[in-house]
Amino acid sequence: MIIPLAHRAGQTQEYYFSVKLAEVRQLIAAGHDVINMGIGNPDMMPSAETIDTLAQVAQRPDAHGYQPYKGTPAFRQAVAGFYKHTYGVSLDPDTEILPLIGSKEGITHISLTFLNEGDGVLVPELGYPAYRAVSKLVGANVREYPLGENNGWQPDWAALSELVQQAPAKIMWLNYPHMPTGAPATKALFEQAVRFAHDHKVLLCHDNPYSLVLNKQAPISLLSIDGAKEVAMELNSMSKSHNMAGWRVGWLSAAKPYIDAVLTIKSNVDSGMFRPLLDAATVALNNPDSWHAERNAVYAGRLSAVYAFLDTLGCTYATNQEGMFIWAKLPDSVPSAEELVNRLLIEKHVFIAPGFIFGPKGQRYIRVSLCVDESRIREAVARLSPTETPA
Ligand SMILES: Cc1ncc(COP(=O)(O)O)c(C=O)c1O
Repeated sequence: MIIPLAHRAGQTQEYYFSVKLAEVRQLIAAGHDVINMGIGNPDMMPSAETIDTLAQVAQRPDAHGYQPYKGTPAFRQAVAGFYKHTYGVSLDPDTEILPLIGSKEGITHISLTFLNEGDGVLVPELGYPAYRAVSKLVGANVREYPLGENNGWQPDWAALSELVQQAPAKIMWLNYPHMPTGAPATKALFEQAVRFAHDHKVLLCHDNPYSLVLNKQAPISLLSIDGAKEVAMELNSMSKSHNMAGWRVGWLSAAKPYIDAVLTIKSNVDSGMFRPLLDAATVALNNPDSWHAERNAVYAGRLSAVYAFLDTLGCTYATNQEGMFIWAKLPDSVPSAEELVNRLLIEKHVFIAPGFIFGPKGQRYIRVSLCVDESRIREAVARLSPTETPA
């Protein structure tokens, strides 16, 4: 006998990577040398000062108890300093910043805070899968909005206006630099988004984890746009920009009423974050610009190897992409992304992500991660060669 699950458990599928990475682990356990270019899991270290702080604070007897639900004042102060330095945005560290256990959990807390069953949620037709999955979990009505491939994967605002005229929406998820397409953020795009949110009384939830990764121009925050704080919140994360994905440190920035509302829900779900982690993250937020430049130089070196990999597969791609992935279109000769991804994994022991996991429009695309040492990417290129004996 098994106790029946809630309806929502039956409606949701296990996360693609949760399933696929188990397959990758099985291949590794069987002795295969798998090159994993599927996930955005930074392989470089956080700054040395960050690690030192973690170790030092962990020695302190007072560092192991529960911490405030809103994190330490020093952490929030560091976030405010980071926002000012990076984006020129002023945030009140006492009222406009809420630490999160990674920005992914913020998506759930925001959805629980603002969405009633049946409320409309606008999600990009290609995007981070959690926006769609969590909206469904809370019983909201997911409505995909188109991104124009010929328009650099920007939202199609005319189509969006039509969507909200058909039925109102409560939340719109936005994410630029965009994952998976690598489309950059622009001030014009953010201004348009804030105008749209005002015009249609939609809460704009911007997810901004990639602004410091291979960015071609100064990073932008949606909150830098006039009038944004009335209608918008911004998630940010140390996972990608500070090489701290496993630490689970992110935060929500928004006007006080929004932060207070999310905290009401969140404080019933978890009980703060580990003090050594908060103190170390506080230090990491003060990494000098040169630290970010060095990390980006390594990613830039990997780009040419990834381009060689994609060229060998006959894929096409834009070279202005930001973030830690390259999004590429399959040649007509490849039947589907699923076929290619499975074939490469089984025959070449190379794992890449199929585009469909980011939405139905991704059927003929793949996403390749830059979180792999350049020599390993070159090895993946070599394994594609027809003369190469499969590893
Ligand atoms: C667009 C986007 N948002 C959010 C996240 C989650 O970030 P975090 O590690 O802070 O939960 C990711 C991670 O891959 C992402 O790509």
